[in-house]
Amino acid sequence: MPTPSSSQHLPFGENKGADWYGKDIISVKQFKRDDLEYIFGVAHEMRGMVERIGTFDLLKGKILANLFYEPSTRTSSSFTAAMERLGGSVIPINEVKYSSVTKGESLPDTVRTLESYADVIVLRHPETGSAAIAAKAARKPVINAGDGTGEHPTQALLDTFTIMEEIGRLDTLNVTMLGDLKYGRTVHSLARLLSQFNNIKLNYVSPDILRMPKEVMDEVAEKKVPQAEFSSLEKVLPNTDVLYVTRVQKERFEDPADYEKVKGAYVIDPAIMKAAKKEMIVMHPLPRVGEISVDFDDDPRAAYFRQMEYGLYVRMALLAMVLGKA
Ligand code: NCD
Repeated sequence: MPTPSSSQHLPFGENKGADWYGKDIISVKQFKRDDLEYIFGVAHEMRGMVERIGTFDLLKGKILANLFYEPSTRTSSSFTAAMERLGGSVIPINEVKYSSVTKGESLPDTVRTLESYADVIVLRHPETGSAAIAAKAARKPVINAGDGTGEHPTQALLDTFTIMEEIGRLDTLNVTMLGDLKYGRTVHSLARLLSQFNNIKLNYVSPDILRMPKEVMDEVAEKKVPQAEFSSLEKVLPNTDVLYVTRVQKERFEDPADYEKVKGAYVIDPAIMKAAKKEMIVMHPLPRVGEISVDFDDDPRAAYFRQMEYGLYVRMALLAMVLGKA
């Protein structure tokens, strides 16, 4: 059974940390294999430090602005925890409705304001491309914490870290993505990021109206990664190493009737998982709204709660990197 400590260390790239000083994190397209190896190495060190001493002063005196225009539990609180465990502090702006945004302030102006007070900005916004717009306006690093249906790069980095820790490799994997592949930004980022590894096979299982966008499939195809689409899980589950389950993104449907048609299309439970391998993992970016039965939570293959913890270490690593301390 894979455990969170069963990882193999990958060799670090030299001076990789310095490459990321002052940089924005907008898309997974910015990350090559050696960047991932470096991030995973730093994330390991962060984990060791948290386990040994809890909080330490690597980013003492640094301030993060957490600017969230969309709801979030894990992403915002893990960035807050990451910053505070590194000795820094956080300006939280979750309730955009109480900020100047409701007075009509533009995103570039809000970002310019926050960078007067903070050293790094984490942004979640409902529009695809908003993180790039914010990054263009800002002199300080902007980290994309989800831009509409576009990308969620820090999630994909923590997802690949989870796979590495739990399975021990990122090459030679059969990965099945299940659920809302159209609106789910986490799978858009993860498919792109995995496509640079060797001998990867991507299976997409979704209702017809929620298929993986052509744009993402074309990019993955350019890397010569085999992709196949299915409407049922049956055929692909027995060969799957990583089953990545997603929530149907209710808030992004134009017609609520369409949501009603597809919600609850797939539910992972212990009976279904009898057909899966013993050595595989089930992931989910969370929140779940019924796609994985709670009866499955105690199965050793259920990696979604461990996945959240890996996220803390990866986000600590990313903050240290863009602030020049990794
Ligand atoms: C995801 C997101 O916001 O895209 N959540 C997260 O960051 N862990 C997935 C989702 O909301 O379904």
